[in-house]
Amino acid sequence: MNAPTEKIALDVARIRQDFPILELMVNDKPLIFLDNAASSQMPKPVMDRWVRYQSSQHANIHRAVHYLSETATAEYESARRKLQAFINAKEEREVIFTSGTTESINLVAHGWGRKNLKADDEIILTTLEHHSNIVPWQMVADEKGAKIRVAPIFDNGELDLAAYEKLFNAHTKIACFTHVSNALGTINPVREMIAIARKHGVITLVDGAQAVPHLRVDMQALDCDFYAFSGHKLCGPTGIGVLYGKAALLEAMQPFKGGGDMILSVTFEKTTYAPIPAKFEAGTPPIAAAITLGAAVDYLSEIGMDRIAAHETDLLDYATSEVTKLPGVRIIGTAEKKAAVLSFAIEGVHPHDVGTLLNEDGVAIRTGHHCAQPVMQRFKVPATSRASFAFYNTLAEVNALVASIQRVQKVFG
Ligand code: ALA
Repeated sequence: MNAPTEKIALDVARIRQDFPILELMVNDKPLIFLDNAASSQMPKPVMDRWVRYQSSQHANIHRAVHYLSETATAEYESARRKLQAFINAKEEREVIFTSGTTESINLVAHGWGRKNLKADDEIILTTLEHHSNIVPWQMVADEKGAKIRVAPIFDNGELDLAAYEKLFNAHTKIACFTHVSNALGTINPVREMIAIARKHGVITLVDGAQAVPHLRVDMQALDCDFYAFSGHKLCGPTGIGVLYGKAALLEAMQPFKGGGDMILSVTFEKTTYAPIPAKFEAGTPPIAAAITLGAAVDYLSEIGMDRIAAHETDLLDYATSEVTKLPGVRIIGTAEKKAAVLSFAIEGVHPHDVGTLLNEDGVAIRTGHHCAQPVMQRFKVPATSRASFAFYNTLAEVNALVASIQRVQKVFG
């Protein structure tokens, strides 16, 4: 396949000027940042939003009537509305700010699971899950005597949808699955998966950490019950994420953390909780991070998620075609529908050596089990090398990745 020309519609050269970090030299080579699935980089306008907040708007929120507290409160709640619009949630109170995907899933596992699961109930997961969508469920299942059932995947990394459907029975209470696999890039057929669960009267939680940065997501169209994602994979800061939940479910749930700002009244005899979303945002929340995440979704929306997805598809298709040509390199995860992730193994070379040698060329990838050990077990590998793309990556960077892989092969004979 010939290198496709960069889409005129997405001016990558111009976009890259917004990302100061992309000008770094690493080992005397220009940085080629292909570890976006772990955390993406932040553009200058988004950084500027943090500085503006801290310089002229910061105070604690929801607690005082002075100018700064009211300004910070208004900006924080405006960020919630930006996130609501970005994911097309029906109501702003359905957007809960958390510290990230992990906390969002824990909130549901502990807040919903502890109240609603009992002995012999069943939780459906899939082989593709990140540890953050496995371990919280194991913790609650152990406590309640509930069981975890796992939907298998095919050799190309696609979910076996028929096997998934067969797992549902009268004991099934919740199905939790990733939208996009962080280890393989597989895009799951989440609409069908949600519809199947709904047909069986089962609620759903979708781990959207690897989907929201790459695809347009729409809560009302998906009709899932919960959806979790992180800010730092979305050109925002670390320490902020979102749990989307349907209002009726959130209202019926137990809070996961107790503290200030989540109550209506407290006596030593009894506490009553605030309405959502405050009920789930105990203590001083990450105000600056939430407002900065609001700026990040403004930035992405201005570029356009459809254009971002189209450019990243070009990058992934080109990388896949070039890496496939290399003898001795195996791509792990060849699903028909994939987003932004290329996991591979080089015959006779440990992934950690691959990562180290690529770093010598300035190429940053992640190597390891990617916090998805069941996926590694499924493919009988201890680890993979993973290049993951963002909209600011270029076809020239894909060429550099391929050249660096070839150098690894030469070094290891
Ligand atoms: N979950 C992140 C990754 O896949 C950290 O790298």
